[in-house]
Amino acid sequence: MSAAQPSPRTVESRGPLTGVVTVPGDKSISHRALMLSALAVGESRVTGLLEGEDVLATAAAMRAMGATIERSADGVWTVHGVGVGGLLQPAQALDMGNSGTSTRLLMGLVASHPITATFTGDASLSRRPMARVIEPLSRMGADVTASPGGTLPLMLRGLCPAVPIEYHLPVASAQVKSAVLLAGLNAPGITRVIEPVPTRDHSERMLAGFGAALSVEETPDGRVISIAGEAELRPQDIVVPGDPSSGAFWIVAASIVPGSDLLIRNVGLNPTRTGLIAAMRLMGADIVEQDARVVGGEPVADLRVRHAPLSAIEVPPELAPSMIDEYPALFVAAAFASGKTVARGAHELRVKESDRIAAMAAALGANGVSTQEFEDGLAIQGTGGEPIPGSGHVATRLDHRIAMSMAVAGLHARRPVLLDDAGPVATSYPAFFPTLDGLLGREPQ
Ligand code: S3P
Repeated sequence: MSAAQPSPRTVESRGPLTGVVTVPGDKSISHRALMLSALAVGESRVTGLLEGEDVLATAAAMRAMGATIERSADGVWTVHGVGVGGLLQPAQALDMGNSGTSTRLLMGLVASHPITATFTGDASLSRRPMARVIEPLSRMGADVTASPGGTLPLMLRGLCPAVPIEYHLPVASAQVKSAVLLAGLNAPGITRVIEPVPTRDHSERMLAGFGAALSVEETPDGRVISIAGEAELRPQDIVVPGDPSSGAFWIVAASIVPGSDLLIRNVGLNPTRTGLIAAMRLMGADIVEQDARVVGGEPVADLRVRHAPLSAIEVPPELAPSMIDEYPALFVAAAFASGKTVARGAHELRVKESDRIAAMAAALGANGVSTQEFEDGLAIQGTGGEPIPGSGHVATRLDHRIAMSMAVAGLHARRPVLLDDAGPVATSYPAFFPTLDGLLGREPQ
């Protein structure tokens, strides 16, 4: 996961997107599948794992801490876990690459084991705030030495037995919630997290599925999640559903490019993840759910999405946690709507793989779209369905979602959109560009 040479890419209008696309495994669920399997006693099997760089960083880290993780030729992953409490001291620093989820969740795991780990990452990850996990994990007894500003590289010394805590999440973050719950797995007694606003609940679902004693209670203060520590996890066969955050690019692409008609298969529809679909429907998108089913304990459907005229909206801020990764794609949809879309209440976008408010304002602006930046969001003036001017350079800033969102914008532009580096898409969707070429009826480049 060393910094590769940038790989610039040009995206141009090539007509409608048609056909069938199957989205890859969910990134959040894939991380958790590897981590929990590595903590179960015995052999787990994971089908549909996302084989992107972020998830591979988690796999490498779990191997470095004692788990045996193998991929067979048919794409099924087999994990022999070490048991809760059984993680080993890694011999070298854990290279987290670009992955905030790997970093924060693994910090939680290490916090309650009698081991010390050093976490390093790329330039993007090394700028991201870790104080939000350092704070609760320190209360549980972990000893953390971080770089200035609470960033990577950092060294975390776990404590065993750790101190179970009750923690009110100060920020709507599934990563912080999960870090505390995972630390609680090996702490004696009950660890409790109270989240005022619901965030993605994959950790809760999967911990319960692996046999941890976990309860969720809705109270006037929010959701109270309690986990009993020193748990014994039972190995599982896991099928990872498709990632709605990856499906989002195709939903937006089909909606904005005239003549498009796509069947997007295997889209996870966990209600804590469906904000983009809700917002697109408010804008007038034509999205039909087909063959609703349950995969790996999560609701899944195929989505038929056809081009439709979009209208500007005020994006309901309460949707933010359920579409936090999808704002860049939504901003692109807004660039083709009639009227001015305003999204506020999304301050967290400033601390993702890049500052996504600034990155999208710059990228859209360079391609002739008028935007107005707020501290907590963006306003975008749409074209009313006309192509955007294009011909602008996009700084993708080591951020996969900026690269894919602006690639989608280039599909309905008068002149090509130029990405300075398409490499980051490999973190979450390595097959994105070949898939795009297929939907446009061309062979991969
Ligand atoms: C994730 C939680 C979210 C999301 C990230 C994945 C997870 O981050 O943006 O891509 O898997 O728990 P925050 O917890 O920082 O909101």
